[in-house]
Amino acid sequence: MSRTFTIIKPNAVSNGDTGQILDMLATAGFRLCAMKMVCLSRNDAERFYAVHKDRPFFRRLVLFMTSGPVVVAILERENAVESLRQLVGNTDPAKAAEGTIRRKFGESLTRNAIHASDSDANAREEWSHFFAPEEIMETVYWLPCSAEKIDSD
Ligand code: CMP
Repeated sequence: MSRTFTIIKPNAVSNGDTGQILDMLATAGFRLCAMKMVCLSRNDAERFYAVHKDRPFFRRLVLFMTSGPVVVAILERENAVESLRQLVGNTDPAKAAEGTIRRKFGESLTRNAIHASDSDANAREEWSHFFAPEEIMETVYWLPCSAEKIDSD
């Protein structure tokens, strides 16, 4: 098992697509380790996307990412980073394959519905912007035996 980080972006949240995206993630075998809805300040967005600060689209990206609430989450699955990037699809929704999240919910290169980390190291760095260690759940707590114990009391 490994972990990755995702952001459901402002266009997907405001279009009411959060539930359907979480359902696609669950259907693909991802378990949630942490999740919250937040509004990014300009400073938050500039720090999160600092690697792109010299790119021509940086200002547009920061404006968009601060335009409304986002849902941030840590996801667990085998081969999590690569599996999520496949499910998310090409950065440009117009080039994303059928069945991918960006193909279904993306509207443009900027309004592309979802972010997915591109390596294990970047995933850890990215989720540290949003989650303290005690907010990240061990999915062992999901084992059905915990429910059985409660029922047998
Ligand atoms: P994301 O996966 O969040 O990582 C960086 C984001 O920058 C990317 O999704 C796009 O939304 C955005 N982006 C990348 N390339 C461009 C571009 N050429 N024009 C506008 N936005 C871009």
